[in-house]
Amino acid sequence: MALTNKSRTPNSASASRRHTLTRHVHLAAKKARRNTSATCSAMEVPISKDAAWKDLEEHVNAIEETHLRDLMTDEERVMSMIKESEGIVVDYSRQRVLPETMTKLLKLAEAAKLREKIDSMFSGEHINSTEDRAVLHVALRAPTTEKIVVDGKDVVPDVHEVLEKIKVFSERVRNGEWLGATGKPLTNVVCVGIGGSFLGPLFVHTAIETNQEAMDKAQGRELRFLANVDPVDVARALSGLDPETTLVVVVSKTFTTAETMLNARTVRTWITSALGQDAVAKHMVAVSTNLKLVKEFGIDPENAFAFWDWVGGRYSVCSAVGILPLALQYGYETTDLFLQGAWSIDKHFRDTPFDQNLPVLLGMIAVWNVSFLHCPARAILPYCQALAKLAPHIQQVSMESNGKGVAIDGTTLDFETGEIDFGEPGTNGQHSFYQLIHQGRVIPCDFIGTIKSQQSVYLKGEVVSNHDELMCNFFAQADALAQGKSATDLRAENVPDALIPHKTFTGNRPSSSILLPELNAYTTGQILALYEHRVAVQGFVWGLNSFDQWGVELGKVLASQIRKQMNEARTKGRLMSSQDGHNASTTYLLNKYLSGKAQLKYADAKDVFPCDIIASEDCKVPSD
Ligand code: F6P
Repeated sequence: MALTNKSRTPNSASASRRHTLTRHVHLAAKKARRNTSATCSAMEVPISKDAAWKDLEEHVNAIEETHLRDLMTDEERVMSMIKESEGIVVDYSRQRVLPETMTKLLKLAEAAKLREKIDSMFSGEHINSTEDRAVLHVALRAPTTEKIVVDGKDVVPDVHEVLEKIKVFSERVRNGEWLGATGKPLTNVVCVGIGGSFLGPLFVHTAIETNQEAMDKAQGRELRFLANVDPVDVARALSGLDPETTLVVVVSKTFTTAETMLNARTVRTWITSALGQDAVAKHMVAVSTNLKLVKEFGIDPENAFAFWDWVGGRYSVCSAVGILPLALQYGYETTDLFLQGAWSIDKHFRDTPFDQNLPVLLGMIAVWNVSFLHCPARAILPYCQALAKLAPHIQQVSMESNGKGVAIDGTTLDFETGEIDFGEPGTNGQHSFYQLIHQGRVIPCDFIGTIKSQQSVYLKGEVVSNHDELMCNFFAQADALAQGKSATDLRAENVPDALIPHKTFTGNRPSSSILLPELNAYTTGQILALYEHRVAVQGFVWGLNSFDQWGVELGKVLASQIRKQMNEARTKGRLMSSQDGHNASTTYLLNKYLSGKAQLKYADAKDVFPCDIIASEDCKVPSD
């Protein structure tokens, strides 16, 4: 794919004051990191040593002299910070940036070789160096006219081969050609998977399930997810479902994830105990990169949908991981629109000059907020109930990608990276955690709204429609954060002196506003890609590897050690002692847990749903 090095001319920006507390925390962290700095044979100069970084550090002083209340009166500045591309409006005028801040940030992007890194990603280089893999989720949405080469092979035809297989299979299930073991149509789908094999598909499903077009296509069908290994989730996911009409999709990139595999065995037992062993062939399919393990599990590889190691788990919703369940529920054409939406942003990200490039601008502002203004978190606040699962999905995309303490060469980073992403749909969040955002910590916010609602309600006699009411809050909150309310304003309103400190809003709290024309399969793909690429921009500039996730490993290893001991303790009826190698706290807690349920019957237990298979006063062990 031909990639050109486009102009990096910046445009405008604005700014304001830093909080003393966060500064102290930052300095302490910096000192601690200096003392624990790791070494690596091929060390690169960290971006924080670059002149562009230093320049931004000094520039913070200028920003501290400003307040968003004043910056928002500068119409020229404001209008230069509203960008519209691919039908999406991004307004970052309420960020604490001046026009020169943006110039400096784009210089930093240049110093961090952002253009080269984006090009390397799109051209299939193994930029995930700790796992020696390419990073090519963009290839999952590339049309057949594109050519994307990984290790000498164009992968676009492979992607479309799997998409075609999904199309054929989902149509057969949907039109009743593919029937269950007892001859009934499979109208319910349960997806078993966790992390990236769950959150992305759930996000898209939630985003489009009330879109009228998608709703019409999903008539008479149900899509559910089983992620948590908690038996409560099993009970909830299977509640009211009939195995005869249920298709199970086991989704796991590795097909080794402990939670998913136990849940898959559980659901397989639910199917086979009702319909017999042979029912697996008709009722269970898989999505994985590990077709060998799929076969060993008992699912015919013919009924498996492949993807590739160049797709990271948290970036896999555009592979069969998301496309298969979504095509089963909404029809293949809907998923095609979703892929087209994501690709529109991929192209924009790849080809647009940085000063007009939405993911680049959002990513650079995030770098500014985290590493220079020391904001610890970011709130994702969709004024759109259908985006309720955006924040949980982006939590993984962002925090698993950029929650790192070392650079890609293994050296310890001496600046803050990553942010704590969280969020809830407006207006629910307003009645929950917005107090802290308005008067407590400084948390940059993303306000996301739609011009048209998926559903409309407008009652006779009401001043506005329900969607307009929702959006009034979208507009108000961003200004409330930016402007604040001063003691002078309060005095003018005759607020008693004692209440003035409590009713004062400092303002100067940054946010971006993102406005979509409406939420449908296409724009859901766009918003997904926008966030994915923003995260990549941040990681590229910080110089870390956004595509590995070693931080999730240690807990898995410890859990598997405890699993062995748990089995032994239950089968031998023993408690833990210091010999088991745990500290006093873990030994105490384990023993409290073990002795809280009577003796285990693992060895000859029967399959039981949904009761725990451990004897206790409330839960009887089944007798033979
Ligand atoms: O817990 C980390 C992780 O590896 C995620 O990155 C991934 O999305 C999830 O586990 C599930 O993995 P798999 O799809 O292999 O079951």
